[in-house]
Amino acid sequence: MTFLGKLGWFVSLILAAVILAGAYVFLVRGNVVEGEDGRTVILLSKAERIKVLGEMRGMLEAVQSVTEAAATGDNAVVQAVARAVGMAATANESAAMMAKLPLEFKTLGFGTHKAWDSIADLAQTGATQTILTAAIGDILLNCTACHASYQFANEDVTQ
Ligand code: HEC
Repeated sequence: MTFLGKLGWFVSLILAAVILAGAYVFLVRGNVVEGEDGRTVILLSKAERIKVLGEMRGMLEAVQSVTEAAATGDNAVVQAVARAVGMAATANESAAMMAKLPLEFKTLGFGTHKAWDSIADLAQTGATQTILTAAIGDILLNCTACHASYQFANEDVTQ
């Protein structure tokens, strides 16, 4: 192989390594640092953090409404409220923010939205209060598991 040929291969290998490292950071690791209490801190822009915390409060409100509606056997309300925080709620997440979230966080997050859709499906097919309450209990496990492992902070400390 000529010197230029070898150089070409070398440059290609370096580029492939850079692309793989970039893919690892964007798809798997996310934009994170270790927190003081042992949790992983995900660094977001101020606007992203405000938006995602608003979505979190929306999910807590959904837990409240769904629990109350399940207790009174109002499956129509359970279905509507759960569907609103299902996968449809993730449609407007920005690619920039997705890149900052670790893979495990995204898996748990999407799993939670899918679980809300499952509760909506259960309510739609006439599930009893016992079944719905058990499903809400399962969803709450996702909430507590993620909160035990992750925190958000502003990526720019001056924000
Ligand atoms: C994939 C991870 C993940 C899942 C799943 C998750 N959360 Fe969170 N949530 C977080 C993180 C991270 C924070 C920020 C905590 C911090 O910075 O200390 C948070 C914060 C919150 C807050 C505080 C909002 C505020 O304004 O400060 C509420 C309320 C909340 N979550 C509710 C829920 C509920 C209810 C569920 C389940 C239905 C849920 N979350 C599921 C990661 C998650």
